[in-house]
Amino acid sequence: MSNTTQTETSKGGFGSRLGFILAAAGSAVGLGNIWRFPYLAAKYGGGMFLLVYLIFAVTFGFALMITEIAIGRKTGKSVIGAYFAMDKRFAPLGWLAAAIPVVILPYYCVIGGWVLKYLTEFVTGNGKSTAGGGEFFNDFISSPVAPIVFFAVFIALTAVVVMLGVQKGIEKVSKILMPVLLLLIIGIGIYTLTLPGAIDGLIYYVKPDLSEFSIKTVIAAMGQLFYSMSLAMGIMITYGSYMRKTDSIETSVRQIEIFDTIVAFLSGLIIVPSVFVFSGGNKDALNAGPKLMFVTLPNVFESMTGGQIAGAVFFLLVALAALTSSISLMETVVSIICERFGLKRLTSCLIVIAFSFVLGLLSVFGYSIWSDFTIFKMQILDFFDFVSNNIMMPIVALLTCILIGFVVKTRFVENEIELNEKFRSKGLYRVMIKYICPVCMVVILISSLFISL
Ligand code: PFF
Repeated sequence: MSNTTQTETSKGGFGSRLGFILAAAGSAVGLGNIWRFPYLAAKYGGGMFLLVYLIFAVTFGFALMITEIAIGRKTGKSVIGAYFAMDKRFAPLGWLAAAIPVVILPYYCVIGGWVLKYLTEFVTGNGKSTAGGGEFFNDFISSPVAPIVFFAVFIALTAVVVMLGVQKGIEKVSKILMPVLLLLIIGIGIYTLTLPGAIDGLIYYVKPDLSEFSIKTVIAAMGQLFYSMSLAMGIMITYGSYMRKTDSIETSVRQIEIFDTIVAFLSGLIIVPSVFVFSGGNKDALNAGPKLMFVTLPNVFESMTGGQIAGAVFFLLVALAALTSSISLMETVVSIICERFGLKRLTSCLIVIAFSFVLGLLSVFGYSIWSDFTIFKMQILDFFDFVSNNIMMPIVALLTCILIGFVVKTRFVENEIELNEKFRSKGLYRVMIKYICPVCMVVILISSLFISL
């Protein structure tokens, strides 16, 4: 088991608590917050969804995140090494957890590339071309070369930061990008709220609508929280292993959660009222699912005064959010390769770039030359997303709860947290990890397999 000196010197680590919080928040704040949260909130009862989400964030999300960060910091290892260090019998779980960012990183960068394409259109004054009934989006993703170019640029941007290392790359970039992201989102949030009719949309977004509340609201909120906080994919274990022993885990987790939830809430504040105004108060316009960002929103920007600038700012915001998340996904894989094979960071990065590029090409081709090919009726990208988020992540989280709750026991995590402070939510934590979280994970697993939300 490593000690502070080892974690900080041989592996490199975050130089400050703020750096750690912003990097972890950068991982958490991503496409999930800006695009997925608003449409789920709009679909599942507005304020009711927000309320349920908040309750889950401070209970279930809190317990899972604190567990992962403590595991990382205590073992000082990457995902595979961390599970092995806790209990050798759980080593396969480490491999399963490690496979998740391997699956997600490539397609996340493909979507990052789509965002860059839209950003380029708006920045060069061509934002108008993206409006319409989805022709622009379909033409772009089905074209043979352009999506590959933008995908490659997005991976390259991610890789440059990871190559620079934890302190000089990830920490430095997060310290700049995260405050910028917050400012951008507040700025365009205020702007959209001044649009005529926006207040009705705002009311629709925050007012609890009991008639829309059902078990699906609860399941959707739980699944979203899990996705949004980058849980069960080894990221928080990796970032935890770079955290200083002197910093408080409990307070940091609270702050990361607050950051993540504020960004998700503000994104809804931008998207829900503006789509509401654009569609003349028709709630169904918000139900566009994944198309919301690439088809509905460009039409909204097209119809607003100053839409060209608002669109550019919006897609810049999404690009930055996606970038800090893909950095964390890549770092998780790079750290595993460095540790397992004793390779240098640069070499590991090159390996990760190579296989992510090849895997990402499968997702790109799934919309172009292989568009007829589907797996269980899903396009290739959707299939990767489904397997990782709906199957692998709940399994990893469930088995991690069992490992911590019943095998190594919650003391393992509690001792790490109590290294520098009293663990204020210890009682809540124990109940969550041993009983509530495993039940929640089984519910997520079953619902995502059998009920289509
Ligand atoms: N938490 C980030 C987001 O909300 O976008 C990052 C992320 C989540 C990446 C889920 C990948 C993923 F499957």
